[in-house]
Amino acid sequence: HGYKFRMVDGRVMPPYITPRCYGLSRRIETRPADVCFVSYPKSGTTWLSYIIVLLTGKAAASLESSFYWVESSWTHPMTESDIASDRSPRLFKSHMPYDMALGGTPAQNPCKYIYIARNPKDVCSSYFYFESGKSWSGFYNGGWDHWLQMFTDGKVHRGDWFEHVLSWWEHRNADNILFLTYEELKMDPRAGLTKIARFLDVELTPGKLDEVARKVSFSEMKTTEFSAMKGVKEFGKFFRKGEIGSWKEYFTVAQNERFDALYASRMGSSGLDFIFM
Ligand code: A3P
Repeated sequence: HGYKFRMVDGRVMPPYITPRCYGLSRRIETRPADVCFVSYPKSGTTWLSYIIVLLTGKAAASLESSFYWVESSWTHPMTESDIASDRSPRLFKSHMPYDMALGGTPAQNPCKYIYIARNPKDVCSSYFYFESGKSWSGFYNGGWDHWLQMFTDGKVHRGDWFEHVLSWWEHRNADNILFLTYEELKMDPRAGLTKIARFLDVELTPGKLDEVARKVSFSEMKTTEFSAMKGVKEFGKFFRKGEIGSWKEYFTVAQNERFDALYASRMGSSGLDFIFM
């Protein structure tokens, strides 16, 4: 179905996770002030990235040039010395499970990691929309049923969703890890922003909270004239609905029942649960 991938450390990854870039991402020497935001794709990465950029004052000419995506070969060409000479805080994006994290093992890294997770039905639907017929890295042209099967088999880019999310969830109480959900951020953005600011040791005045909350709202971010978002490839694909529960437009009743059974067995007694609406 036109879907290209590369196996890296036993996981299905996009072709642009080259050995050179992945190797570099694992070797990066992080600093205490650095922030790495991590997610399974379609979980609110772009949203979280903009929140962190605004809270840390790292806004550059475009959103994508405000942070490093070291594991990927196609965003911005960079060298180890460019990254090493950049001032703190440096921001990093990653879509890796815990054991493939930026900088090696998070437990041995001084930087802060913020992981955002989203309910897997919305992730799977958003991912299907995102991968279907896009002009870069994929051209997936299969149908929904096939996509759902690939997703539940752990065969889409970044591998098995359950494994990915639970790998970070297990370490949620580490001092340098903050585990967030898309749903909590969506239902109470101000509480989410306050939590993130506290974790980052950033002072958040009521005025600044208002300003950031306004700028990161879905409607603001979706507006193409918004200068910080310029340069995001196929911009529109990153802002579809921005809601909880749009999976209902994709899953049939039978697919939903099968998914619920899988979810119950895979999440088990992890203590992690999501709002599906
Ligand atoms: P939908 O496809 O369900 O709309 P990522 O950035 O990890 O690729 O995630 C993309 C998803 O986050 C998309 O979900 C997108 O609409 C949603 N999103 C982007 N910006 C958002 C915002 N400011 N508020 C809520 N959701 C947002």
